[in-house]
Amino acid sequence: MKHLTLLFAATAAALVVHPEGNPQQTSLVEDKPQVAVQDAVQTWWNSLPNPESLFTAIESRIKTSLQHVGDVTKGLDFDPDSDSDDDGHPHPHPPHHPPRRGGRHHGDKTKTIYELIKDNKYTTKFAKLVEENDEIKSLLDDTEHNHTLFVPTDKAFEGIPHKPKEPPSKEFILSLLKYHALPGLYTARHVLHSHTLPTELSPDSLGDHPQRLRVSLGFLFSIRLNLYSKIVLSNIEAKNGVIHAVDGILVPPPSQAKIISLLPGSFSTFSLGLEKTGLADDLSKSDEAGGTLFAPTNRAFQKLGPGANAFLFSERGKKYLKAILKYHVVLGETLYSDAFYNKKKDDGDEETNGYWHVDLPTQLDDKPLAVDVKSWKGFVEIVLNGFTKVAFKDGVASDGVVHVINSVLIPPHKHHGEADETEREYSVEELKERLGPYVGGGEVRDL
Ligand SMILES: *[C@@H]1O[C@H](CO)[C@@H](O)[C@H](O)[C@H]1NC(C)=O
Repeated sequence: MKHLTLLFAATAAALVVHPEGNPQQTSLVEDKPQVAVQDAVQTWWNSLPNPESLFTAIESRIKTSLQHVGDVTKGLDFDPDSDSDDDGHPHPHPPHHPPRRGGRHHGDKTKTIYELIKDNKYTTKFAKLVEENDEIKSLLDDTEHNHTLFVPTDKAFEGIPHKPKEPPSKEFILSLLKYHALPGLYTARHVLHSHTLPTELSPDSLGDHPQRLRVSLGFLFSIRLNLYSKIVLSNIEAKNGVIHAVDGILVPPPSQAKIISLLPGSFSTFSLGLEKTGLADDLSKSDEAGGTLFAPTNRAFQKLGPGANAFLFSERGKKYLKAILKYHVVLGETLYSDAFYNKKKDDGDEETNGYWHVDLPTQLDDKPLAVDVKSWKGFVEIVLNGFTKVAFKDGVASDGVVHVINSVLIPPHKHHGEADETEREYSVEELKERLGPYVGGGEVRDL
């Protein structure tokens, strides 16, 4: 899964790493209001070198961080004795090493978050962006509400392409800034106990729900956000919240479709299927906000066997392929491993914990996909239809979330009990029988 993980990081880290990067970032603040946020993200992408070199850049970045193991641990600032706020949702590997003496960063409780980053000589670049943006400035200066800020250090701005073909718009900068702030107070411990975190950014494409950050553990228990941005200094207290310094700018993620198309090494078969059946087109026209995509890897398709693949990707098998693919797509409901944006409920987002079950309506005639989320001592497992385990969870996207699976989902038999079908091949006859009810006499019903 390392390869895949790196590529996911590449997806989100595009802005951050550039092999021939230049530390200057003047182009970041130029004004271009007519460009929508989406376009700006796209533009950033297009201005980047080929994914190959991006990949290399990220790999070398990871190697570098391995060489500086000492640095990696520096930012960790837990006090194992202050366990009283334990919310029963710990991460699998609490740090073994004792907290460092003198390693606490108390900040200054007489100053706001904004004042602290403005006065700090390591955060001048981010502070400058904030200063030029009244909305975010007043948010971080507001003492009525607590906030958490992930502030990229000046070093994090190194490597941004000096002259992108199109400078990002004001909206893009605003989204970027909002994506670094969380409503409420999250200490390092709270961050570590989460799988995803809600930010101040709430795009239309998510139905105004918060865009989330993905939390994971890096080397020696360092905390990483969206895989590539490491917390290097934590728990800097302010009058109105807490600051954590990070070594990578948090770029709002691209769409589900973009993520899939950027990772051909893992999803070329799935992509081909989406194109070939016209489903990619149908989905791009959908005006549902949010969604959950279960993306089968190339290996997942291989497992179906050569006969099944030849059939599904033939003209005659196309409608069956379309039915299968639709069964992997949920629109309007966004399910993370610890939160659920459910369109049927108006009373806000559901933060989840422990064991829970939900049936997600798929694009295949609303045929439900049974999802079990089991978290135990910080481990979390998402299981579909009883047997298919999500291999990579919570791939955050601008329009929902992508979970990666290593088996293709086939709608279960109508009358038989559940059986593990994740590792077996299918014959053409069997596929026709299983999918018959959904393809009808002729075409698969349109979206
Ligand atoms: C912010 O958090 C601190 C520490 O938990 C708390 O004492 C304070 O009342 C909070 N302030 C607001 C405005 O919620």
